[in-house]
Amino acid sequence: MSQIYRAVAIDGPAASGKSTVAKRLAESLGLVMVNSGAMYRAVTWQVLQEGIDPENRAAVLEAMSRMRIDCGVKNNLSTIAINDRLLTIEIRSAGVNEHVSKVASIPEVRESLVAMQRDYLGEYDVVMEGRDIGSVVFPDTPFKLYISASEEVRAARRAKEGESDEVAKRDAQDSNRKASPLKVADGSIVIDSSDLTIDGTVEAAREALIKLGWKD
Ligand code: CDP
Ligand code: CDP
Repeated sequence: MSQIYRAVAIDGPAASGKSTVAKRLAESLGLVMVNSGAMYRAVTWQVLQEGIDPENRAAVLEAMSRMRIDCGVKNNLSTIAINDRLLTIEIRSAGVNEHVSKVASIPEVRESLVAMQRDYLGEYDVVMEGRDIGSVVFPDTPFKLYISASEEVRAARRAKEGESDEVAKRDAQDSNRKASPLKVADGSIVIDSSDLTIDGTVEAAREALIKLGWKD
């Protein structure tokens, strides 16, 4: 019989604390942490690299059809490579921050990347963070968290990291798009991290998972 793997889904707006919590849960629960946003960022980076207008859907899709996208795992964290180039820090650039929501609003882009995201669950127990993990990627998992924080707090966190990122604009685009918008998935426990420390947020997430029936 093939093994059944478990998925923890974490969604929420930019800089709410999703990656931080997902990494810590992955370490303590022995899961692979998958950063789905990195995949949308990687495609956007390659589009920009090729000088393609991210607003031009047909051109983006044509470029994507030529990309060799490899999703992997290293040290229990997801990795992403395009055309054999492993992408890390470059996908956090201001240009990618500015254009990623546009690229992520294209349904065909989402379809391809969602399929790759689901493939992880064929091989690993995962904690995956993004915008539509509980609503679209793994709608059947009972383990759904939604991490939020006020707009001011999130903007301040990004500024502290030294990133140029208009989080409010990106959130508005991510929440208002037609294809898989950011929303609280049915059955999610919502954690507001505005007034929580990092440890406090991780602890709240752990307690929420137990409430949802998680057993080690
Ligand atoms: O780290 P941060 O929350 O700022 O963003 P991210 O998770 O790296 O995601 C970057 C962008 O990818 C988001 O603003 C969305 O436009 C898109 N995204 C998405 O549409 N669906 C996902 N599951 C994850 C990210
Ligand atoms: O993945 P996402 O964009 O949702 O957020 P993140 O990258 O995990 O967190 C954004 C920043 O906020 C990081 O620098 C975290 O260390 C920080 N953070 C915080 O100061 N307090 C929290 N309760 C959660 C995150």
